[in-house]
Amino acid sequence: MIAHMYIVLLIPIVTTVLVTIDNQQPRRDVNGEIIDAHDGSIQQFVPGGLYYMHAMQYGLCKEPPNYGCDGAGMPEKCGFQLDHNISIWTSPNLTSGSWTYAGNAIDVTKRPAGIVFRPHLVYNPNTKLYVLMWNYMNFGVSGQIAVAISETPIGPFVVVNTALNITRGSSGDFDLLVDTDGKGYIIYSANSMNVEELTTNYYYTASSPRYVFPETFVEAPVLMKRDGTYYALYDWCCCYCFQGSGVMVYRAQSPLGPYLQQQDGDIACKTMNRTISKTRIQTSISALPTPGQGCQYHNGNTTSTLRSQQNFVIKVTNAQGLTTFVWTGDRWQQAPDRIKGHEPQYWMPLHFNSDGSIDTLDWIDEFTLDV
Ligand SMILES: *[C@@H]1O[C@H](CO)[C@@H](O)[C@H](O)[C@H]1NC(C)=O
Ligand SMILES: *[C@@H]1O[C@H](CO)[C@@H](O)[C@H](O)[C@H]1NC(C)=O
Ligand SMILES: *[C@@H]1O[C@H](CO)[C@@H](O)[C@H](O)[C@H]1NC(C)=O
Ligand SMILES: *[C@@H]1O[C@H](CO)[C@@H](O)[C@H](O)[C@H]1NC(C)=O
Ligand SMILES: *[C@@H]1O[C@H](CO)[C@@H](O)[C@H](O)[C@H]1NC(C)=O
Repeated sequence: MIAHMYIVLLIPIVTTVLVTIDNQQPRRDVNGEIIDAHDGSIQQFVPGGLYYMHAMQYGLCKEPPNYGCDGAGMPEKCGFQLDHNISIWTSPNLTSGSWTYAGNAIDVTKRPAGIVFRPHLVYNPNTKLYVLMWNYMNFGVSGQIAVAISETPIGPFVVVNTALNITRGSSGDFDLLVDTDGKGYIIYSANSMNVEELTTNYYYTASSPRYVFPETFVEAPVLMKRDGTYYALYDWCCCYCFQGSGVMVYRAQSPLGPYLQQQDGDIACKTMNRTISKTRIQTSISALPTPGQGCQYHNGNTTSTLRSQQNFVIKVTNAQGLTTFVWTGDRWQQAPDRIKGHEPQYWMPLHFNSDGSIDTLDWIDEFTLDV
């Protein structure tokens, strides 16, 4: 008998999908329309599956000139209206032209009345439900965080808690982190920044000790985990501010701290070359930088290299399992036609140094991403 030996070569099938993200063009949907999607979360729940974006739709309101938060709350101010939707968009590859509108997360009449900011979605592995939270404020009432649930990322979502019981009582911007052990955490601003643990279902805050960061007048946080290290990123308040803000980086070995600030300080507030910054300013017609906000709050000689306020960090994992952390920021007041819903975003991959610190961020016109 002749023993036949078959040598089977197992060639792994790895599909590399390279896409270009262009910061000089608006983001468009599959019909070529500019997507009206701001201050939200973007994530994939299944490897190779769709990306889901839950974001604010401000509508086609034309911003009056001057500062983004002038007369905040006035009906003519595009960023402060009661009918803004939390819209859901999907995309297979994050590119402009790939976004499909999947509907609104919840009808305006079925959520607590208020001006809504920063919807964030997470999947809760404990309850197997998607949990959507958003910040809302009503005139004369301080900010609260609403909690809603759904069996799918496209909803419809049902409110389970109209006011998350954070220790500080009221809150502004926030972000959520689901840890590898299923525990949920919220980072939120209440003038200073705080991190608190959530209950198993994420409907409430747990009673564990809260971590408080040192600065005041900060907002727009991101809480994320990479290689066992927890990162908290945030910066000086920048209320729909045209000039953008920076990024301070804090790191910890536990989600509830203690956190230590990265040594070289803010990674996106820099003394800017006036020639360069002037070109960027030309993207808007009549908006003005808000004095004393963004990088200028900390040091009047510095400005945001990214011309945007931090929004969210997207985890993009390619077919080889390597993850890119894509930083996203909102470019408030920078739509060339002044329409609030057309305000663009700025995206760039974060570069981590070997010691886990994050490199300084400088404007890039475009980059290639392996999705
Ligand atoms: C919110 O969504 C509804 C239903 O699609 C739509 O009629 C309304 O114009 C939207 N509001 C804004 C501000 O875009
Ligand atoms: C990205 O997705 C869109 C929408 O499905 C598709 O038309 C486009 O070809 C994709 N781009 C790449 C590079 O795969
Ligand atoms: C929030 O409410 C939940 C549910 O009632 C409770 O278990 C928890 O202790 C409260 N959290 C704080 C920080 O008081
Ligand atoms: C500022 O920009 C000008 C023109 O692009 C360039 O020549 C100069 O080197 C820049 N200066 C700094 C400090 O980056
Ligand atoms: C800003 O620049 C001015 C003029 O160069 C200088 O006098 C001032 O000390 C600088 N401020 C800071 C906070 O660096």
